[in-house]
Amino acid sequence: MSDPKFTPRVFSGMQPSGGLTLGNYLGAMKRWVDMQNAGTHQTIYCMVDLHAITAKLQDPDTLRESTREVCAGYIAAGIDPERSILFNQSQVAEHTQLAWIFNCVARMGWMGRMTQWKDKAGKNAENASLGLFAYPALMAADILVYHATHVPVGEDQKQHLELTRDIAAKFNHDYGVDFFPITEPVIEGAATRVMNLQDGTKKMSKSDPSDRTRINLTDDADTIAKKIRKAKTDPDPLPDTIKGLDGRPEARNLVNIYAGLAEVTPAEVVAQHAGSQFGHFKVALADLAVEKLASISSEMARLMDDKAEIDRILRRGAERAREIASPILDQTYDIVGMLR
Ligand code: TYM
Repeated sequence: MSDPKFTPRVFSGMQPSGGLTLGNYLGAMKRWVDMQNAGTHQTIYCMVDLHAITAKLQDPDTLRESTREVCAGYIAAGIDPERSILFNQSQVAEHTQLAWIFNCVARMGWMGRMTQWKDKAGKNAENASLGLFAYPALMAADILVYHATHVPVGEDQKQHLELTRDIAAKFNHDYGVDFFPITEPVIEGAATRVMNLQDGTKKMSKSDPSDRTRINLTDDADTIAKKIRKAKTDPDPLPDTIKGLDGRPEARNLVNIYAGLAEVTPAEVVAQHAGSQFGHFKVALADLAVEKLASISSEMARLMDDKAEIDRILRRGAERAREIASPILDQTYDIVGMLR
């Protein structure tokens, strides 16, 4: 349960590096829309452009364009920039200001244990950027500069959210305060880890060199249907219980994607399609995916026609974000002993 001392507030973010995938949609965006519509929390959603430059050099024009495209994706998926606060991270300087304090709270050992650091820096850590190493401290600042109580994300962000809790707890303990909330990760639903369409043991990712491994939110109906038809499966039909998906990662992935899109449980999908050959199931899945996703890509294209409007939405969102972040940063500086 979250601490009643804090306003119920959701924060989540996405890197504007490359396009949006079905994984981003089912693991994050769709659930952000649900949380916005539930009306139980204030909702704040962000394009984390400062995170996007940690792993590799981004072409400046492409980065600006991707930031707009992700913004268009959020809105097309159902984020309302009036009901939620929608902005890009670099426009609210409080994120990096708090991140510096957290760089001094977090320990080198904590950062070195992050699997994302190990995966991305690999054997070449000497050559990785300092920003990539400090990435999770900036992520903690993104969340805690709003005193966010809940963070909806996909499974792959779990470790970073545990670190966010550790940073909040260490800050509170070191300074003898109860100032930062211990944020709750919200990792829920059938599709918290959408897998690669050609290899069910790997995560679906925008950075995979092969486009056949993922569905992009910008794919048209034909492309979506074709990618699903060509997705790898095994020769057996759908089982009649979830247990029957054990050891069948590709089959499990398609069932989870169906469940995520249809907003039912994987057990319900299996019950409905038990005994079906994957050839048939894929047709049903392709129809469902086209029905749910095709309107997002056309709406994104429409929104991208008016870039000045997107920029205006982001500036306005940043102003609203700053109104919350600025007093929290001031109080943090005061706690730490910075003369104001
Ligand atoms: P990013 O940009 O990699 O992904 C954005 C969101 O999409 C989810 N996601 C997936 N979910 C299910 N299956 C997949 N295949 C899949 N691929 C991506 C991610 O879990 C994430 O929720 N570090 C974050 C960005 C970030 C952030 C934050 C998130 C920065 N600050 C503060 C939350 C709060 C990242 O790189 O996400």
